[in-house]
Amino acid sequence: MMKLSELTPPIVIAHRGFKMKYPENTMASFEAAIGAGVKMIELDVTLSRDRRIIVIHDDTLDRTTNGTGRASDYSLSELKALDAGSWFDPSFKDERLPALEEVIDAFGNQVTLNIEIKESAHEPSGPPDAIEKQVIDLVLEKKLLDSVLFSSFDQRILARIRELSSQAHLSFLTEIPPYEGILGILRKISAFSWNPDYRTLLYSHIQKIHYAGFRVIPFTINDKTIVKKFLEAGIHGFFTDDPILQS
Ligand code: G3P
Ligand code: CA
Repeated sequence: MMKLSELTPPIVIAHRGFKMKYPENTMASFEAAIGAGVKMIELDVTLSRDRRIIVIHDDTLDRTTNGTGRASDYSLSELKALDAGSWFDPSFKDERLPALEEVIDAFGNQVTLNIEIKESAHEPSGPPDAIEKQVIDLVLEKKLLDSVLFSSFDQRILARIRELSSQAHLSFLTEIPPYEGILGILRKISAFSWNPDYRTLLYSHIQKIHYAGFRVIPFTINDKTIVKKFLEAGIHGFFTDDPILQS
């Protein structure tokens, strides 16, 4: 088992696996990223119609599978029948949408995982099987709490996970330019890091957030020169579609 506390910066996070060369969020993509040497893989989760946790980035199936419509309108077994690889290249026609548990079982003891809970899956009514509850229960059941970074653009999801576990590692994602409220949110949820879109990130913000005691891990950088500049400015790690970017 690899723990977050054992990772030394810079943490290179494989965004949806080895997204540049493999169909995103598939077992092939995660396996390739791990083969490339990363210590953390990132993936996106939402709920199927039968409330199983599935790994897919978009709310809809159209871009990354041969299905159509919303993923949440289909059961896990219906989703499993879809081809999640041919859209990228016909050689990946056997790739399927993974259930989160499959990814955890296959890779959870080899690398750390960054599980992004999509904001569209959030249910304000907070049912007992809400996605954030299911995800934390699964990670606890697999005894991988120290190996998982939970992230979301939705601070309500992160606040709920914090209620459910005082030990969970949380990252707040932002894609709009930073604002004054960020620090308050990071403090409220006792965040592991702030993960902003690098295109909105200023050096002054890195300094400010560091000074307050939080890590900064921007997404998604595929340019070596930009990585170098931000590393010099003090980021703790970065997301990339190309996990061999630095070699
Ligand atoms: O967690 C970083 C990044 O994955 C967030 O953006 O749209 O790729 O899920 P997105
Ligand atoms: Ca993501």
